Amino acid sequence: MQNKRTLIITGGAGFIGSHVVRLFVNKYPDYRIINLDKLTYAGNLANLRDIEDRPNYRFVRMDICDFEGVLKLMQDEHVDGIIHLAAESHVDRSIKDPFTFAQTNVMGTLSLLQAAKAYWESLPEKYEGKRFYHISTDEVYGALEMTHPEGIEPPFTTKASSGEHHLAYGEKFFTEDLKYQPHSPYSAAKASSDHFVRAFHDTFGMPTIVTNCSNNYGPYQFPEKLIPLFINNIRHRKPLPVYGKGENVRDWLYVEDHARAIDVIFHEGKIAETYNIGGFNEWKNIDIIKVLINTVDRLLGRAEGEDMDLITYVTDRAGHDLRYAIDSSKLQKELGWEPSLQFEEGIEKTVRWYLDNQAWMDNVTSGDYQKYYDEMYKGR
Ligand code: NAD
Ligand code: TYD
Repeated sequence: MQNKRTLIITGGAGFIGSHVVRLFVNKYPDYRIINLDKLTYAGNLANLRDIEDRPNYRFVRMDICDFEGVLKLMQDEHVDGIIHLAAESHVDRSIKDPFTFAQTNVMGTLSLLQAAKAYWESLPEKYEGKRFYHISTDEVYGALEMTHPEGIEPPFTTKASSGEHHLAYGEKFFTEDLKYQPHSPYSAAKASSDHFVRAFHDTFGMPTIVTNCSNNYGPYQFPEKLIPLFINNIRHRKPLPVYGKGENVRDWLYVEDHARAIDVIFHEGKIAETYNIGGFNEWKNIDIIKVLINTVDRLLGRAEGEDMDLITYVTDRAGHDLRYAIDSSKLQKELGWEPSLQFEEGIEKTVRWYLDNQAWMDNVTSGDYQKYYDEMYKGR
């Protein structure tokens, strides 16, 4: 692959996107990194303050649905790679407003593919040296059964720094060849966008890659998602709304490990392949919530566990998927990636970050940054 590249990273002002932008800007000074983001409620340029003045970085406020705008940007900047993260990403919002999810995740991805196709096919070398890398989710595979509610040690388990194994709650995992069975409007829209990306490879020969990752956690995640929402609520001693019985299982990966996987796959992944990304780290929601309470209490100098009574069981999420568990052995074997952080360290780091960055949290929960951007970019 060339030493100099010009990449568009869509959704770079969001949670995962900001970590990907930071990694690429720091690691590849010879690349030009264009962060293309609409700045919805979930996009926040404060996530990128530390790199915003770098010479190899440019921010463009744009909607991925703006075909003409994206095409012109690709032509002007001679873009040869796209890493596509922009999306509506919250399941609960998708239940309330599925149209926005279809618009952004499906039509937006299609529009981006069409713009890339139009530009790259206009070049003499066409698709040579180009990449369209689409970031997707494990939720497209649907839900796995919980055949071992007490947990088992199947072939794939991770060992925590305490020496204990993390258990799996069933013997089945999401593998790359599994049939798509999305249940929520969010995962249905992501599944549809994955199909469009593969169709552009199969029909037009576009060099595409798709990856499906498990739940991410870490700094800069919008506090509508479980981990940052609950850390903030524990801090302020607000109720913790646990959906159903808190028995649902998610497979958690530290966001910087996802960003590192994206880097490896973008550069070394095989065209037209799918890679699942995850750290074999399954947790029942209620167990994570207890870890969060203990950690926040300890770091704030409260008695550990003193805030357990904030746990409030509420009506379950409609269509709530029971268990997600990623089998990432293909990625680990073929490209040598593996997670760098154990969950205990990752959670400790994450809780500390949110407690140390209360101003960031106050800003995103007040929505003030949104008004600021709307004013700043008015008419542009
Ligand atoms: P996020 O909601 O934090 O960020 C999404 C970003 O996309 C925001 O900056 C937003 O402004 C931008 N955006 C939204 N609509 C846009 C549009 N029409 N045009 C341009 N920009 C737009 O999301 P995230 O959690 O960082 O997820 C990023 C990607 O990773 C998504 O595609 C998501 O499906 C996928 N993913 C997320 C997770 C997770 O645990 N968060 C796990 C696996 C995969
Ligand atoms: P979330 O962070 O929304 O991610 P996803 O739905 O994409 O997995 O939720 C993680 C888990 O936590 C999921 O099983 C739903 C549950 N949950 C709650 O119990 N209460 C909450 O307030 C939220 C936001 C999530």
